Amino acid sequence: PTEKPFVIAIDGPAAAGKGTLAERLAGHYGLPYLDTGLLYRAIGRLMADRGFDLDDAVLAGQIAEALDPEDLKHPGLRGRESGELASRVAVHPSVREALVAFQRGYATRMPGAVLDGRDIGTVICPDADVKIYVTASPEVRARRRTDELAAKGRSVDYERILAEVRERDARDSGRQTAPLKPAPDAVLLDTSHLDRDGAFAAATAIIDRRRC
Ligand code: DC
Repeated sequence: PTEKPFVIAIDGPAAAGKGTLAERLAGHYGLPYLDTGLLYRAIGRLMADRGFDLDDAVLAGQIAEALDPEDLKHPGLRGRESGELASRVAVHPSVREALVAFQRGYATRMPGAVLDGRDIGTVICPDADVKIYVTASPEVRARRRTDELAAKGRSVDYERILAEVRERDARDSGRQTAPLKPAPDAVLLDTSHLDRDGAFAAATAIIDRRRC
């Protein structure tokens, strides 16, 4: 039989633990991992560093077209500020279109891949073998983020983080192009009452059911 790439799509809101889960799944199944949020983060960062207007769709599209994989190594990309910049440039169709081919490249090459983002199951890989929509209540996500930052010695205000989480949810879900929403055939994984190991066990159970 001809072997096909095996593609796992992980979508969900900010701070739901998608990245940690997706990376662990990739290791477990021996697949490459693409954190698609990093692409939008890099574009937001490049725009901000150059003093460009984040609302300028034409300029943002040009930056996206010219994006170099080396740009993904920018040290500040994982932080909260970059997430905010990413969410703002991600509303532009010009930006999203420029990133489609790069993302699909992962999904069409053997042995497949794990991709995490907002629109993987709906737009980028509608034919993914498994789609998991990872979610948790805004309060739980804000609490986890606050604890993570506190563990790094940063003093942060839970209420402020909660407001940021809600604002990002509203922008990512409310945009016209490729808004955040579960694909009709996605399996919902609510991690509000699960720790990392619990989320991993639940995800592998979902994937293993689909694999054979
Ligand atoms: O997953 P993340 O928090 O790193 O993503 C940062 C922002 O990038 C997110 O708020 C919206 C945008 N994004 C997107 O629009 N589509 C994706 N596939 C991934 C991220």
